[in-house]
Formats: sequence, structure tokens, C-alpha cells
Amino acid sequence: MDTFAAAAQRAQEVGFDGVQIHAAHGYLLGQFLTPHTNRRDDHYGGSLDNRVRLLREVFQAIRLRVGDDFPILLKMNGTDMLPLRKGATTAELVRVAKIMQDDGVDAVEISRGHYESWPGMVLGHYMGFIRGQVEEGSGAMMSRRRRVAMLAAAPFIERAAERLAPGGEGFNLPYAEQFTAELDIPVICVGGFHTTEGMESAIVSGRCDAVSAARAMIADPYLFQNVQAPAPGRPVCGYCNGCIARFGGTRIDCYSDSIRARRDLMITSPEPA
Ligand SMILES: Cc1cc2nc3c(=O)[nH]c(=O)nc-3n(C[C@H](O)[C@H](O)[C@H](O)COP(=O)(O)O)c2cc1C
Ligand code: SF4
Repeated sequence: MDTFAAAAQRAQEVGFDGVQIHAAHGYLLGQFLTPHTNRRDDHYGGSLDNRVRLLREVFQAIRLRVGDDFPILLKMNGTDMLPLRKGATTAELVRVAKIMQDDGVDAVEISRGHYESWPGMVLGHYMGFIRGQVEEGSGAMMSRRRRVAMLAAAPFIERAAERLAPGGEGFNLPYAEQFTAELDIPVICVGGFHTTEGMESAIVSGRCDAVSAARAMIADPYLFQNVQAPAPGRPVCGYCNGCIARFGGTRIDCYSDSIRARRDLMITSPEPA
């Protein structure tokens, strides 16, 4: 508890406007929420009230440390994407969000996926993903035998993922809107956002209160300027997933040559191109 609170305090002291507690994607606090990973039989496991206990304690420790005026956001899943395993249901996750709202969380960001659910949180394209992961990403640390097996299976896995998880702008909206319907605090939706129209329609339709973006900002660091006044030739993420494939092994960057070239041209121009 104390280390979470100390981290939040450090962020506050160096001038950040708020912090976000990560309870999505199969990280520790998400693992406690998910029955598949939480097999405990003490008062941190079993019922939803028990599974949310650690998250509540972490939140309370942070709130105590940073005070009431410092925003604390919560990132959580709308779906764990754990078919044939006991993922938390969307209804349960909405209940978690309501408990956290009552405890004083300022906003929730809705994502999806678990480290055990490939391709998890980054829907898009997957051809070449496994080679990128095995050769330059975190997979480079795996045994040689495992890397060879992954490369052999890659064409089948990647083709299946390409068909089953195509993504699209606002791919988490079907989950985010279920939180929006139940909560009074702002609901932020992440997942595939990169156009003015896509972002506006998500908010204007009332499906969420705000949107966030990861890959579109890796491709275009001026994304939020460019969605307000789109510059001709701006780099637009193609969701090839080259960046996430290399995650953990090399620096975060855009690994699509043509898009990166446009990005580099834009950021080296005196004004955003
Ligand atoms: C290279 C990369 C690294 C990421 N690292 C994290 C992370 O550390 N924590 C996290 O919550 N999400 C992480 N994500 C997931 C994003 O925050 C986001 O939930 C996901 O990419 C979907 O949004 P997008 O479609 O706008 O990319 C990462 C995504 C990418 C592409
Ligand atoms: S490598 Fe570049 S184009 Fe591909 S998903 Fe990442 S940011 Fe988008």
C-alpha cells in the first residue's frame, strides 16, 4: 500500500496533475479482480467485495497521501477477454467502478484484455507481430526452443487474430457505454481513436465522456492538435502493432517505416506540418 502511495506522492511533488491506478490488463490489481487469476480463499479472494478489497485499500492509501484535490483516475477493463476462463464479467467490472466511485475515484478509463488473452488490449493488425516480439520485443528473452515454436505457429495465430480481433475506431465503446450508463464520474474510453469524427461521435453520442489514445499518439505526437485542425500529410497510425510487438525489448516508437518517416518530417518542421 505504502509504495503505491509513495509513488503517487512523488508524481504530485514533481508537478503532475493527477495519477492513474492501473487495475486493467492483468496487472496486479486487475489480477485480484479476475477470478481466473485470483484463487485466494482469504478475505482478498472469492466474492467481488473481497476481490476489490486490495484496490480499495490502495486507493485509500493514495488518497490519504495526496489529499482530496489531487485527481486519482482508475484504468480498468470492460472485458478481460479470457474465453473459456473465469474472467471478470462486464457487470462485475461496472460494480467495481461504482464501488470505486463511492470511495472517491475521480474518473475511470475503460480498456480491455489481460496478459493471458492474446492479442489482448491492442486490437488491430497482427501479421509480423510474433517475429517482431520474438526478435526485438520481450520475446527475445525467451528460450530458443520457445522462440522457434512461436515463429512456427506465427502464421496461424496471426491470421486467426487478424480475423477475430480486427479492432476499429472506438473498439472499447460497447463496454465503456455500460459504465457511462451507471456512473456519475467521467468515463474515458481508450481503443483505436485517431480521427476527429471518431472521437466526437463517441462523446457526442454520450457513449463516453472523453477519449484517450496510445498508438495514434506514438504515430503522431501532435495528435490532439491535428484532430482539431488536421494538417495535410499528418502521420496516421495504421494499427500494424509493430510498436507493441517490440514493447519490453526496445524503445517505444513507430515501427511502420512510412508512417515514422512522416512523423519525423512533421516533428522536425518548424511548425507542425
Ligand atoms: C507500445 C505500447 C505500450 C503500452 N504500454 C502500456 C502500459 O504500460 N500500461 C497500460 O495501461 N497500457 C499500455 N498500453 C496500452 C494502451 O494504453 C492502450 O490501452 C491500448 O494501446 C489501446 O489504445 P490505442 O488503440 O489508442 O493504442 C501500451 C500500448 C502500446 C502500443
Ligand atoms: S508501429 Fe506505428 S503505425 Fe504501427 S501501430 Fe504502432 S504507432 Fe501505429
